[in-house]
Amino acid sequence: MKQLKNGLEKDGQSLSMVPSFVTGVPTGNEIGTYLTLDLGGTNLRVCKVILEGGRKIGNIKGQLYEVSEDLKTGDVTILFDFIADCVKDLLLKEWGNNIQENDKIDLGFTFSFPVIQTAIDKGILLKWTKGFTCTGAVGNDIISILQKSLDRKSLPVKVTALINDTVGIALAHAYYHSEVVLGAILGTGTNGAYFEQLENIKKLNHNFNPLDKMIINIEWGAFDSEKVILPITQYDNKLDKESNNPNSQIFEKLISGMYLGEITRNIMLYLIDRSLLFNGLSSENFNKHYIFETKYMSIIESDNTETLENTKQILENLFHISTTSLTDRQIVKRICQLVGIRASRLSSLALASIISYCKMEKSKCCVGIDGSLFEKYPNFSVRMHNTLKEFFGENADKIGLHYTSNGSSIGAALAALLANQSKL
Ligand code: GLC
Repeated sequence: MKQLKNGLEKDGQSLSMVPSFVTGVPTGNEIGTYLTLDLGGTNLRVCKVILEGGRKIGNIKGQLYEVSEDLKTGDVTILFDFIADCVKDLLLKEWGNNIQENDKIDLGFTFSFPVIQTAIDKGILLKWTKGFTCTGAVGNDIISILQKSLDRKSLPVKVTALINDTVGIALAHAYYHSEVVLGAILGTGTNGAYFEQLENIKKLNHNFNPLDKMIINIEWGAFDSEKVILPITQYDNKLDKESNNPNSQIFEKLISGMYLGEITRNIMLYLIDRSLLFNGLSSENFNKHYIFETKYMSIIESDNTETLENTKQILENLFHISTTSLTDRQIVKRICQLVGIRASRLSSLALASIISYCKMEKSKCCVGIDGSLFEKYPNFSVRMHNTLKEFFGENADKIGLHYTSNGSSIGAALAALLANQSKL
């Protein structure tokens, strides 16, 4: 809570507390058709979103495109030219020839990395996270790079808003529900956003009405990157040192889907080296970074077969270790549980601190959450809820944790609409 306040007062703090320049809370009556782009998770997503008013959204037409390792680590122009091709593809599929000459379609861009925003349509990339390292982007305005790529392909599209995925969830959730909200992502990465009174955002020089609210992107994945608050194990340290962003995003590295499998692999390796697992037997695949994806932990944690057959299959197929004992498999399952439990407890800690900071009445508090970890990891939400009970007692039963799918796309459409309104 102390770090939340520091981040609102000054730039350059552990928590960036990025003002989103999205002011006002959606009423649910917004109407319009938008193109949306979502970059920052496992895939690129391009969608056509129709806001119908009356808290309704039309059937979202969208397409997922895989972003290869080469695109994630090459030059940003190559990545954004690829994105422009994907936009062209969806335009042809969903709009066909129905675009009038001189018509421009408004695009809301969900770009889920730490940026400094100076307006709703201006955002300078601070640093990459989640395995992206493209050159030519840090320190530059992301909207203008994207607009240039779209213009090079003569696409009738205008990028009107840039938002973080958490801001998208908060907006989307507010479109559907009137309660006080907080948006969170528990997926490849982790982060949260909430509605803050403008008068509390001391670092922002602005002409807004101080009584209005603005969404703040907390960037909580960077919490404790100095490693002084939370207990960090040797397995976490190993992962951090070997990552492409050492000493950065430490909280995210304890929680999010991109890293849990890798922590688990590190623990298994440690036990193998001491002959406490698989009789000390290892394999070439065991040395491959990130080979043990978090999805395997989900399967292992929900393996309720008597002899842990599903676990056996994974160890055999992925690591080519075919002589595991039941005890080995039980140990592997226990490691997955421990890593998974820690992640869900720390996620609750983030929510609990925002809820306490905002002095939200628990009975009116509802959190919109998106992300594969929350959606798919066994018992993640139950464990989160149990941890919230440790903080808030019975009151925790009144806190709603709502899975909000498509939040980034709906939020991007709302942001594109709000951007136009604020220019009126
Ligand atoms: C990373 C990004 C952040 C994003 C989160 C979830 O933490 O830095 O901007 O919101 O991942 O996608």
